[in-house]
Amino acid sequence: MKRINMLLLRNLPLLLCLSIASGFRPNHESGGIDPSDFTDTDITEMGVLRAVAWYMERNPLPGKPPMTPGQLENMKPLTATGLFKAYFQADVSPNRFEKALQEITSGNNLVEVLHMEDSSYFFYCEEITKSINQLRILRDSVLSGLKGHVNSSALESARLSAGKALHVLQKFYSNTNWAEMGNSKPYEYLLNTTSRAFPAAPASKTTCGNCVKESGGWYSCDENLLVKDMLTSGYKLSATCRTKPRGKCGHGGRNDVTQNFPPTGGINKETSDRQLSPHYQLHKQAAELAIQATRDFFVGEGFGLLSQIGHDTFKKFFNMEGYSLTFAIDTTGSMSNDIQQVKTTCIEILREYSGSPDAPFNYILVPFNDPGVGPVMKTNNVDEFEYYISRLHVTGGGDCPEMSLTGLKLALQESLPRSKIFTFTDAGAKDEWLKDEVKVLIDSTGSEVNYALTGYCSSRKRRSVAREETESSSRSYDNLYEELAAYSGGYYVMTSKSQLHQILGIMKLSLNAAPVKVAYSHMDGTRFSFPVDETLTEITVSVKSRVSSGFSMTVLQPSGATSASTVVIDTANHKVVEVSPIHERGSWTVTVSPSGSYEVEIGGKSLMDFSYQIMQRQKEYVLPVQGRPVKGANYTFSMKVMGDAKGAEVHRLAYVSGQGIPIGSVTLNQTSDAFGNILAVAPISLHAPTTLLIVEGLSPGGLPFSRVSAEPITTESVQILPLPGQNGTLSPGETLELSVMVVNDGPSAPFSFKVSDDLGLMRSFRPTSSFLNKGENITLTATFIASGEDSSFASSIATFSAKSSTAQNYLKLPITVIPETALETDETPPVYKLLDFYMPCVGKLQQKPICSGHSWRMRFSAKDAQSAVTVRVNANPTGLTCSPRGTDGDKDLICHYVSDCCSPYAEVLMSDENGNTETLTIDYRRPRPSAA
Ligand SMILES: *[C@@H]1O[C@H](CO)[C@@H](O)[C@H](O)[C@H]1NC(C)=O
Ligand SMILES: *[C@@H]1O[C@H](CO)[C@@H](O)[C@H](O)[C@H]1NC(C)=O
Ligand SMILES: *[C@@H]1O[C@H](CO)[C@@H](O)[C@H](O)[C@H]1NC(C)=O
Ligand SMILES: *[C@@H]1O[C@H](CO)[C@@H](O)[C@H](O)[C@H]1NC(C)=O
Ligand SMILES: *[C@@H]1O[C@H](CO)[C@@H](O)[C@H](O)[C@H]1NC(C)=O
Ligand SMILES: *[C@@H]1O[C@H](CO)[C@@H](O)[C@H](O)[C@H]1NC(C)=O
Repeated sequence: MKRINMLLLRNLPLLLCLSIASGFRPNHESGGIDPSDFTDTDITEMGVLRAVAWYMERNPLPGKPPMTPGQLENMKPLTATGLFKAYFQADVSPNRFEKALQEITSGNNLVEVLHMEDSSYFFYCEEITKSINQLRILRDSVLSGLKGHVNSSALESARLSAGKALHVLQKFYSNTNWAEMGNSKPYEYLLNTTSRAFPAAPASKTTCGNCVKESGGWYSCDENLLVKDMLTSGYKLSATCRTKPRGKCGHGGRNDVTQNFPPTGGINKETSDRQLSPHYQLHKQAAELAIQATRDFFVGEGFGLLSQIGHDTFKKFFNMEGYSLTFAIDTTGSMSNDIQQVKTTCIEILREYSGSPDAPFNYILVPFNDPGVGPVMKTNNVDEFEYYISRLHVTGGGDCPEMSLTGLKLALQESLPRSKIFTFTDAGAKDEWLKDEVKVLIDSTGSEVNYALTGYCSSRKRRSVAREETESSSRSYDNLYEELAAYSGGYYVMTSKSQLHQILGIMKLSLNAAPVKVAYSHMDGTRFSFPVDETLTEITVSVKSRVSSGFSMTVLQPSGATSASTVVIDTANHKVVEVSPIHERGSWTVTVSPSGSYEVEIGGKSLMDFSYQIMQRQKEYVLPVQGRPVKGANYTFSMKVMGDAKGAEVHRLAYVSGQGIPIGSVTLNQTSDAFGNILAVAPISLHAPTTLLIVEGLSPGGLPFSRVSAEPITTESVQILPLPGQNGTLSPGETLELSVMVVNDGPSAPFSFKVSDDLGLMRSFRPTSSFLNKGENITLTATFIASGEDSSFASSIATFSAKSSTAQNYLKLPITVIPETALETDETPPVYKLLDFYMPCVGKLQQKPICSGHSWRMRFSAKDAQSAVTVRVNANPTGLTCSPRGTDGDKDLICHYVSDCCSPYAEVLMSDENGNTETLTIDYRRPRPSAA
């Protein structure tokens, strides 16, 4: 009978393509569960919020009163907006923090694509020791990436690894019997290696019995677990786990192909649906444990990330430092008057805001010339910044274009995420070849690049600029700078040297701790209306004309009255005004004269905004896309409302092209996450080269509102996909090959490929170029070598890119160097030998009260090759004494056990420091109690 089952099970991997790897579900976008169920995303978000709340409570801002423990962590509801508002005691948007959080949850979700066939990411199949080792490896790679001076790419890599580590950590609670054992605290050993490991059931131990099949087809599994004092987990078939052995628990649920084989049913707690989760009643407890464990991962006292990396890196990891205001300034001869104007006008504005919550975290100056760039100067102080600017040394000139993209690249790398970068120059870029790299940096930093130009001489580069116009056929840019400003959602202003000071007021718009975009549109005619909801505390109206003959504009309130406003920019073809305070709410209008073709952008300050992800169905789940989305593909748009959004509704997602021309709209399907926060999804397919997304709905006060995504989404016709089953890890001295698939969805074209990584581990890649027909794909393989000299952890991100004359895309994959020693998992339990055994407890001697007058005993040795042995017995704990046998200390014990005949049985557990356990069972009970 046993053999037949095993044979059937061996063939089951063939069915694997039908199965779903799971623990808690990755997210709500994948569907199929109740909105109140806890997903990996919910658990990660809440765990992180509690960790950050804990941190903020203990580290109030300078000059702010201390907080009481729990004041933030126990806030109800605990949201990022509420937390930031309470911490800063001002309207400060948590959008940078949300970006960091999204990177962590992406790393977590991507395990379902990259490692679904590896049980050690899921605690399946009693791979307890292996999974714990996997968790430690991932955590150590997070730590290694955060050592010393960290830059944005090190942080991104660390967040991805942290997401993966949390995935493993969280699965412990949905897939093992920790919750069933009645634990109300997380398993400390998972994060604190010096705390005690709990014994794990040995292979020989029967852990589960059959469940009862109900008429609905599901299994009722209230009593199936047979172990209460040892850890076990459910079996779920994968490439690393081919069978469910006899007597072992299944994962269970209708997606587990083994649930109908004995022991039937299973033990997972991933949802509250009994069809999916046999132990569905424990779903909430398991999720709460996972949330606590997630929090402890970051701030667990003594062992959390915070105590390993320190305050500064911790704040960087979560993007808690605010933004940089960065000036990249051309220092060639012709710029000396410009620099003088920047110094006087900008510094005056900056000084006005310094000390307010809207002020940047730091000020950065990046001078560039030809060929020199830098040095970068950073300060938190406006006076010092002014001093840096006044010390700028103007030299050279003559040959016109400058190394301005090199300067911008440095500015992007040195600035905090989502920063405001201003470039001042009067010349074109000599280093236009850096454009793609700069765009990838804009993608990953989310920073806004603004240009204030007082000229654009460019010599021989004219031709390539002209080609640019035909490439992105739907929009022609005046030059590369306008293209980059549009790409990043920043401003581009061109003026004359004498009028520069008139446009510098634009800096004011950047000094905003809660910036939102309310509307963006192409306008033909004279009027444009936009909604002003009650959460907006200021608005800015920007109108640009495509012709330079001049125009006038007026901003009208809902009552029809002209609004008071402050002029920020006033040139012939570009006007910007600011309205603050706002007196009327409702539909506002901007009117222009003469009638014509204009570009209107409405900005403002509000805590209500949305964050979004473009996601794609990958096997059974809907997961975030990596790299840029592909033109025409079917995606899921997923958004969350940020802010004091209780009572708000989202109705519609509209998309407009990069020039503000409406493309289409779709109804948003509003639901919520496990904590009741608004979540909405819609199918989306992007066809324009650049698209801006606009979310429309009703504000908490019942007024129509709209918000525009901060930067446009760029689509490509080529995509790069990770190949599953690659773990991206190597040991010092080893070679790693990583492959990706490049798919050309656009017209046939020659492509060139590139692979690079931060640590310089990449040695070669092939092919370096290839012609791809439409629909064709090719595998791109890169070889990485870790030097054998350094034997510590290290992590890096490899960037794979593909480019044709009209398309390009990239994919980032983390690479981790793991010391050989960390890979050694000790999975061998201690061995024992029964040395003496005396058992007189037979027949009547077992009966009370005679039994207490007689005893039985045994002597045994217990030895482990690697670590100290812990011996426990479940019947009569005081009857056990153990002592070291030789010179190996606690690795080699000799034990005596004695008990009276009232307990003529014992189960002895011998565990090593990793929880690997062996059992010795004696049972002379007559009659034997029936097995459970
Ligand atoms: C880890 O666990 C050990 C043993 O329980 C304990 O003594 C130690 O304080 C813990 N370490 C930290 C950093 O909390
Ligand atoms: C996207 O979905 C639509 C409607 O379901 C379908 O007609 C179309 O073929 C899909 N496109 C792609 C690229 O899969
Ligand atoms: C909205 O979402 C719910 C739950 O995910 C789903 O049942 C429903 O079909 C969706 N409606 C639309 C119009 O997509
Ligand atoms: C990574 O994959 C390689 C080969 O696929 C394997 O030998 C190695 O054990 C894996 N490492 C980890 C940590 O899973
Ligand atoms: C980060 O630092 C590494 C070296 O430590 C460097 O190779 C890489 O280019 C830097 N990346 C960014 C985005 O600054
Ligand atoms: C890649 O090309 C092969 C045939 O060459 C095809 O079978 C496969 O479906 C393609 N994969 C993708 C993701 O397009």
